[in-house]
Amino acid sequence: MICKAITELNEYNALVIPVEEGKGIVIELPAAVNEAVSLAAEGFVGKKSETKVLTMPVEGKLVSVILIGLGDGSGHPKNRFTAFAVAMQECKKVKAEKVTVLMDNAPNLCKCPNVKMKAVEAFHLANYSFNQFKTHPQESPVKEVSFLSSDAEAMAHAVWEGNICAEGTMKARDVVNTPSMAMSPEDLAKEARKAGAACGFNVRVLEKEQILAHKMGAFWAVGKGSAHEPRLIIMEYHGADPDEAAIALVGKGVMYDSGGYNLKSSLTYLYTDMAGGGAVLGAMIAIAKAKLKVNVYGVIPACENILSKDSYLPGDIVTAMNGKTVEVDNTDAEGRMVLADALTYAFRELKVAKAIDAATLTGAVTAALGTRTAAFMTNDDELRQLINTASGHSCEKMWELPLDEELRPSLNSHIADIKNSVGSSNMGGGSIVGGLFLQEFVDGKPWAHLDIAAVNRDLSGSQPHSAKGGSGFGASLMYHIVKQLQK
Ligand code: BES
Ligand code: MN
Ligand code: ZN
Repeated sequence: MICKAITELNEYNALVIPVEEGKGIVIELPAAVNEAVSLAAEGFVGKKSETKVLTMPVEGKLVSVILIGLGDGSGHPKNRFTAFAVAMQECKKVKAEKVTVLMDNAPNLCKCPNVKMKAVEAFHLANYSFNQFKTHPQESPVKEVSFLSSDAEAMAHAVWEGNICAEGTMKARDVVNTPSMAMSPEDLAKEARKAGAACGFNVRVLEKEQILAHKMGAFWAVGKGSAHEPRLIIMEYHGADPDEAAIALVGKGVMYDSGGYNLKSSLTYLYTDMAGGGAVLGAMIAIAKAKLKVNVYGVIPACENILSKDSYLPGDIVTAMNGKTVEVDNTDAEGRMVLADALTYAFRELKVAKAIDAATLTGAVTAALGTRTAAFMTNDDELRQLINTASGHSCEKMWELPLDEELRPSLNSHIADIKNSVGSSNMGGGSIVGGLFLQEFVDGKPWAHLDIAAVNRDLSGSQPHSAKGGSGFGASLMYHIVKQLQK
């Protein structure tokens, strides 16, 4: 599907008209549809995501008028994004091939460059479907979406950037949606190499020998039980001066999380545990395509947490890359193990100034915040600010949890420096405890941890912008974090 900016009304099968609450139709309409729109607009308030669809013959062909309420501009920016996604769902229902969006009818809300950009993304993301394993994929009827705005230059820019960010998010979805038999650590490395070649970043992949040479004992322990060996995927994008400090985006890449010997009790959808890694890959794609003037590393520790004769065992003690010994209290707390070494690698080998990790780390985050808001934790005021601002731009809701040092003793081990889960000494706060564990591996440097375990996939498919499966959450967020770092 193509999204483009236009400066004059073109041909269309559906006309999408965003309406600000209580404002109605404020633009001059093409004569042919004027009457129909007036009819549809009767009684239409413009409350958020309110819709009205009217299909009728215009000059010999069927045209659908789709009114979409943007609300009064209150609440999270995601509300406006969702409204445009709802519009796209309506376009699909009426099987419109060519869609035109009249942005000028929401002059207050759509004058924001970010709303324009997210409108473009909403159409792409609401159109996404994962077809790799369908013999007869259902083709989307919508082939082209045109955005008409009097602010032509800004609209063209928004289309350019929205196309890029949507591509990143959809790549993240693809990675999450691909079952592990088709997406091993090496397969993900291949995806990264392919993306690097296409978008302009370098990719290096460390295999067994190099992972062991770097003494990444925690990462290796998790993945060593699988016939598909671990890979450390390192993406390297230079957008700024070589001596400008770099940021690392580190994504959990557990391609399958059975829990290991602490076997999970439910074994469905265990192949989605690399959503953080997928989001990092997606962000790198968007960052490189947009040529952001920042130096960025994307690091994905990719492995499979499975059950075999070679798997790590509860009770094992492993030495992480930074020299700390870790008691494996629970083989299902594997995400923090692989991230521990990836964070050390980012700070010590890549010498980044700061790092953000994204991970499906804890089930507890669902209880804490629900399935629509991701948690973050940070030791740094600047990163906190960047994340909160980026969250508004990417329309991905974030909420901070504290790195409460009073919970830290629950990770004390009687036999090693630290253990990877709290066992029976449970003080609660499972997501915070995960963050506290990771904090032991950042050398006191600026760092933020995004726990996307509750938002990375939508198993009901009940959000208009996100079909059942991976949501791609985090790719756009990380793009907007990095974008703010431009000098
Ligand atoms: N990948 C899981 C977390 C998860 C749970 C993601 C549900 C998505 C949906 C993670 O590796 C895990 O198993 N975490 C454990 C940690 C515990 C053993 C300390 C958890 O949350 O139960
Ligand atoms: Mn696990
Ligand atoms: Zn996991």
